[in-house]
Amino acid sequence: MNAFLKTGKLGAPADVKKPSTSRAKDEKKDLTPWVEKYRPRTVDDIVEQTDVVNVIRQAMEHTDFPNMLFYGPPGTGKTSIIHAAARQMFGNMYRDRILELNASDDRGIQVVRDKIKSFALRKANPTRPDGKKCPPFKIIILDEADSMTGAAQTALRRIMEKEAQSTRFCLVCNYLSRIIKPIASRCTKFRFKPLSDVKSIDRLEYICNEENLKVDKSVLEKIVETSKGDLRQAVMCLQSITRLKGKDYDITVRDALDLMWVIPDDKIDTLWETCKQGTYNDIEKLVKDLLLEGYPGGQVLDQLNGKMFLCDDLSDKQRAMIGHVLGECDYRLTEGCDEYLQLLNIFSTISAVYKCTEFKPWSLC
Ligand SMILES: Nc1ncnc2c1ncn2[C@@H]1O[C@H](COP(=O)(O)OP(=O)(O)OP(=O)(O)O)[C@@H](O)[C@H]1O
Ligand SMILES: [Mg+2]
Repeated sequence: MNAFLKTGKLGAPADVKKPSTSRAKDEKKDLTPWVEKYRPRTVDDIVEQTDVVNVIRQAMEHTDFPNMLFYGPPGTGKTSIIHAAARQMFGNMYRDRILELNASDDRGIQVVRDKIKSFALRKANPTRPDGKKCPPFKIIILDEADSMTGAAQTALRRIMEKEAQSTRFCLVCNYLSRIIKPIASRCTKFRFKPLSDVKSIDRLEYICNEENLKVDKSVLEKIVETSKGDLRQAVMCLQSITRLKGKDYDITVRDALDLMWVIPDDKIDTLWETCKQGTYNDIEKLVKDLLLEGYPGGQVLDQLNGKMFLCDDLSDKQRAMIGHVLGECDYRLTEGCDEYLQLLNIFSTISAVYKCTEFKPWSLC
């Protein structure tokens, strides 16, 4: 039925149907978030990650796909590359040949026993319905595998071995340390690196070109610098600014920084000076103001960390103390602790490090 719809051979004259379909398609394309619209369709579209791309390209040529484990920071192409490879290998049988489970699906031990096992048991033909050759296996993609329970990962071990003939597993995660060792040792591991600024800027320029968008290079550079190798974040930022300001507006560096909640450098300098010279009341007011302005706690910590490395008036020992508390506060924020208290903690620590020569954070005592 789908094939009929695609070829347009349903009886109605093709030239009557075409304009509305393509307009609808155009509209749909327009509404698609750019991260999806510009998601790589083939392995060759993947920016950087040369080693992984080369290995996958070779594996596709010789259809000797191993079980794979992709790990690395967000927005670097892990999910995109396995989907692109599967699409290229299986063509229009792509949907039948992959089973994808991500963190939004239940992936406890029962799902491993039922869903994954039954998919793994299915036969995979070496030919497509149109007679063309096709790899004789299926791929199970376990995206965000680091959020699978330990028991579920353990249950996976046996299935990976038993169904090795007809099934390949691709585990995708941010943290390799959260994958149990027996699973990691059954996979070829690929580390995805944060994307370089040059390659990310090239990709943003390509998108601007496709979208008929004129954006100054300094803006793209700032977006990429702030995204720290996460191309998803960079693309999302570019689209958000365009949506917010309109395509004909001249986007400035300040617009990009505001949208990404980056605190202006002069503000960070003032915060630091207040810690050095101000009273506890000054510091408390400063924290309240920062939160009222809506800056996320994690962003504040990130920029304080950058500022600390630029301060020549700190000894290595003092830097180590501030760094230690920055790390603790960051961890607590990700665990859901109160932003006000954590920011107060770090600002008071910076203040104490400057003012009391004998100061040591409690956790170091
Ligand atoms: N190497 C890349 N080449 C081209 N586009 C990329 C690349 N990395 C990221 N992107 C862009 O970012 C979007 C998200 O990429 P993807 O989903 O592959 O990231 P991920 O590494 O799986 O991230 P996460 O760890 O958060 O799941 C893609 O749709 C694409 O637009
Ligand atoms: Mg992903």
